[in-house]
Amino acid sequence: MTQFKTVYLDYNATTPTDPSVFEKMAPYFGIQFGNASSSNHSFGWEAAAAVKKGRQQVAELLKASPDQIIFTSGATESNNIAISGAVRSSLCRGETPHIITTNIEHSAVLEVAEVLKEMGAEVTLLPVDSYGQVSAEQVKAAIKPNTKIISIMMANNEIGTINPVSEIGKVAQEHQILFHTDAAQGLGKVLIDVDKMGIDLLSISGHKIYAPKGIGALYVRDHRRLSRVMGGGSQEKGLRPGTLNVPGIVGLGCACEILSTKQVEEMQKTSELQSYIIETVLASVPEARLNGHPSERLCNNVSFSFQGLSADLFALGLSGVAVSSSSACCSGSPKPSHVLKALGHSDELARSTVRIGIGRFTTREDAELVVSKICSMAERNRSLLAGEML
Ligand SMILES: Cc1ncc(COP(=O)(O)O)c(C=O)c1O
Repeated sequence: MTQFKTVYLDYNATTPTDPSVFEKMAPYFGIQFGNASSSNHSFGWEAAAAVKKGRQQVAELLKASPDQIIFTSGATESNNIAISGAVRSSLCRGETPHIITTNIEHSAVLEVAEVLKEMGAEVTLLPVDSYGQVSAEQVKAAIKPNTKIISIMMANNEIGTINPVSEIGKVAQEHQILFHTDAAQGLGKVLIDVDKMGIDLLSISGHKIYAPKGIGALYVRDHRRLSRVMGGGSQEKGLRPGTLNVPGIVGLGCACEILSTKQVEEMQKTSELQSYIIETVLASVPEARLNGHPSERLCNNVSFSFQGLSADLFALGLSGVAVSSSSACCSGSPKPSHVLKALGHSDELARSTVRIGIGRFTTREDAELVVSKICSMAERNRSLLAGEML
């Protein structure tokens, strides 16, 4: 029987665990199974040493100090701890803390803001421009005396647009307001320096950078500015109580160490494949429109909408390549993506959208395959539509 291989091109949804990361994690599922909080024996000491190393590796990639890294289960949890933690004490005092964010954040920010609004917070959702970008001027104009936190994503998961994080960080610093950025997509594709960028809180996710799912971190510049939102033990300065996920932390640390040495080279390789896909599709498919910013975009993300082509034929036409019709969290939902709608897309155009995520293991042949599938899908779609009109 012929075996058809599906080519994975959905690296914005998740990445495979790098085999070298997996290898480093393996002993911590086996003989080195200790609890990092057990301070009376060698099992605990070994685990604590592994956690210490992981913390250093993550901190190095972010240009932070190890004691500013809080391990979590992923970017969703990091976002919750950061945003809720920034406004909790005001809410408890019966005040109305103000949160500034954008209308194209991941639901891991938008829903946190919604919950806090129900609890009495005031939320400003800044609109983005047609590229999906928000400006520092917009942020500045939205600041009020009760603004407690500005949460703006580093890069969008659907369309890849990168926000002017350093400029926003400067505005936040001038007004002494906490600046949080969801860097689940930015990490590994944007060179991060938390000090230079004026970032106070930054969320990352292991499974977007070749570490496993279920591990992430929150960079916290000064933990005294954040209230606890979870009760439990004293782990992670009390901000994220619970037994530490030692194998996950080893994996996240190792994945960060790889990026600390290879990120620039990897960005160069993915950019080349990205340019090839964008240029060839735009030149060959007149209905194709690139979503997101033409240059300030993640080097691994391509998002096309196809004007006038039927969304229903997409899945069939693109079989054999694992791409996304929207973000992983939204695909399967009948509602068109809030990100594409915010760019001004009609429901129909939003549905005729394909996101291609390039990654560490993508080859030139994979890129050529997806381009040829898109071109023939468009061709077939066009002749079917022409047939219908006869
Ligand atoms: C921008 C962004 N934020 C948050 C998340 C959620 O991350 P996690 O799966 O680690 O909770 C994702 C994942 O798709 C994302 O792309």
